[in-house]
Amino acid sequence: MLKVNVKGCEPFVEAAKYEAYVQKALDAFDVLQSEKGAGNDFLGWKHLSTEMPESILDDIEGICARWKNKGIDLVIAIGIGGSYLGAKCVIEALSHNFAKQLKRKDAPEVVFAGNNLSEEYLAELMDLASERNVACIVISKSGTTTEPAVAFRIVKQFIETHYGKKEAAQRIVAITDARKGALKTLSDQEGYKTFVVPDNVGGRFSVFTPVGLLPIAAAGFDIRALLEGVKKAEKTLAVKSPDNPAVVYAAMRNCLFSELGKKVEILVNYNPKLTYVAEWWKQLYGESEGKDGTGIFPASVNNTADLHSMGQFIQEGTRVMFETVLHVDNAQRNVVIDSDPQNLDQLNFLSGKHVEHCNHMAELGTRIAHIDGGVPQIEVSIETLDAKRLGTMLYFFEFACGVSAYTLGVNPFNQPGVEAYKKNMFALLEKPGYEEATKAIKARL
Ligand code: PA5
Repeated sequence: MLKVNVKGCEPFVEAAKYEAYVQKALDAFDVLQSEKGAGNDFLGWKHLSTEMPESILDDIEGICARWKNKGIDLVIAIGIGGSYLGAKCVIEALSHNFAKQLKRKDAPEVVFAGNNLSEEYLAELMDLASERNVACIVISKSGTTTEPAVAFRIVKQFIETHYGKKEAAQRIVAITDARKGALKTLSDQEGYKTFVVPDNVGGRFSVFTPVGLLPIAAAGFDIRALLEGVKKAEKTLAVKSPDNPAVVYAAMRNCLFSELGKKVEILVNYNPKLTYVAEWWKQLYGESEGKDGTGIFPASVNNTADLHSMGQFIQEGTRVMFETVLHVDNAQRNVVIDSDPQNLDQLNFLSGKHVEHCNHMAELGTRIAHIDGGVPQIEVSIETLDAKRLGTMLYFFEFACGVSAYTLGVNPFNQPGVEAYKKNMFALLEKPGYEEATKAIKARL
């Protein structure tokens, strides 16, 4: 099971202070588990792995098999925020680093759209689509978000033009609300297969619903193994204890924030496959805790690359941050550094060593240097980066997020601040109904 180690915070935090936050986190744990806290109508994510009907998994796998039979080699997954980052992070974490360049293709390539409004991005996506056999998964819980709606209008027209309207209905799957939203109405009219985003699961907690599972399965990954890891975490994390990893993590990050003024948490990885886990984590914690004028700002670095860019700041810049290091015990592939008789690069001291050993020493050395530089260290570790352990890790971060946000005293499950930019954008785009807002915003330009 995943472990959380807070030894790297001991030089900074008095034991009694930490214990006080463990108590606060245990109280917050009770709030989460009693399901009586703020936002308690959004707790469906807690039991997805045990309550997911088998028929949904069969349906997902059936669609992927049918698409494979049609020779589909490109799946465009359209969505933004929680309707995108979960699938993206799992696919990146489990994919071969050079999957795009390798010739062996045993599953379609999954690419993402609707997570930006770049015209160039969509034009270039159409360049790719013209060379491939295409299907599309369109995801929007509300069914009204502008970015995915714009991308979907373009991709839908492309698919209908290339394959005909009838075949388009075999190649487009929508994942949205059970009853409401423009995407629901459109899907019903066009006869698309639809999956429901449960009412009680918010976007950033939806990776283990069809929102995440369909694109992940389409990319060829084992969603049942992923859910097995979630199930394990669900069971372990439900036990109330000061040693519960979610309690430890929530207690320490709140203690560092409130007692030491550490306002920035940097999620650190030493494996490029984890880059998007950090992006997913930033949304999860940023949207769940950043409200009511409080919250830790979630940031991330990809090491060792970023030790040569952000390393200087983390070592010696403004002392506002702590780090949470994602540690993976074992690499799944081996590369050993050979001895070289000439030793011109003077690396023979590493002869016979695994590259991952060097990676671990870089990680350890960095951690000690950052402690010396005044940056407390939390470690979250898993044995290896496979589907099961990844499922465990993502569920851990979700559960810990609930505990942590309640410890901080905010509602983890709303995101009222996301609406402000939308209102301005609609006013500037002169959307019907926004006439007054349009006048007001134009007067400010
Ligand atoms: O976590 C959230 O709720 C948000 O990030 C949403 O996922 C995001 O805004 C996309 O919303 P929707 O799925 O309704 O298009």
